[in-house]
Amino acid sequence: MRILKTLVGAAALAGLMTTTALAADMTVGFSQIGSESGWRAAETTLTKQQAEERGIDLKFADAQQKQENQIKAIRSFIAQGVDAILLAPVVATGWDQVLEEAKEAEIPVVLLDRTIDAPDDLYLTAVTSDLVHEGNVAGQWLADKVGDEQCNVVELQGTTGSSPAIDRKKGFEQAIADHDNIKIVRSQTGDFTRTKGKEVMESFLKAENGGKDICALYAHNDDMAVGAIQAIKEAGLKPGEDILVVSIDAVPDIFQAMANGEANATVELTPNMAGPAFDALEKYKADGTEPPKWIQTESKLYTQADDPMKVYEEKKNLGY
Ligand code: AHR
Repeated sequence: MRILKTLVGAAALAGLMTTTALAADMTVGFSQIGSESGWRAAETTLTKQQAEERGIDLKFADAQQKQENQIKAIRSFIAQGVDAILLAPVVATGWDQVLEEAKEAEIPVVLLDRTIDAPDDLYLTAVTSDLVHEGNVAGQWLADKVGDEQCNVVELQGTTGSSPAIDRKKGFEQAIADHDNIKIVRSQTGDFTRTKGKEVMESFLKAENGGKDICALYAHNDDMAVGAIQAIKEAGLKPGEDILVVSIDAVPDIFQAMANGEANATVELTPNMAGPAFDALEKYKADGTEPPKWIQTESKLYTQADDPMKVYEEKKNLGY
């Protein structure tokens, strides 16, 4: 029995060493969207950290929000002969051609945090949350919060054409569909940024009786919510009270706002997409194990009842 245990232990160790050795030899290109939000910056930090810890040589390309830059970066990774490519796709469409080229070159592509409209044989796996579900969780929270009260909602959408903007809108609308008292009265893109979130919220406030006709703000990410909170305060209203605020990401600043009573709820999106992505790539490279086409991350709801300052501190230690 002891001999058997030793042999099993040795085999496991050898497997681990092989995987680690292969990882150490891996060169991975990462085409990142940009740095539009606190969440995005944390994802970049964690991807670099994860690569370093695993001995992966990471080639990083910041696309400055432009799909054409992402396509160029992917072509350059292919030309350099990288072992794999991570792609956080800025928009959902227009990837088929360049992903065909990666497939032709036998370079596996892993999608990070956003989905695309393309045949699924063009990528190895996608590490994302259920983006429709996130919108659903936010909408459900609002429906529970307002009960039968009349509630006019303004919506700050993410980047036009991106999968989170499309799906978070869809999920929220599904959640409020059976609640005739809840209505989206204005909806516009704030491009996932704080500056745009503030700017667009200012126009919503002006158009809706200085904000008096708005019951809630639904923002597709926390950064836009933080910008909008500023606009609400400047309009002389109390965010979190006069206008309820629900958003998505769970970045530290939204917990600070919650602790101040200025935001009400957020749905968490982990910025550590690279961990599961590298795990899948390491196994694939070691023995050809095909990961599932979708590696789903969790979507947890946080409210003011969840000790926001404690979560703020925890988040601050996480790469934000
Ligand atoms: O794709 C994920 C989204 O992109 C995040 O929710 C947002 O903050 C980011 O820019």
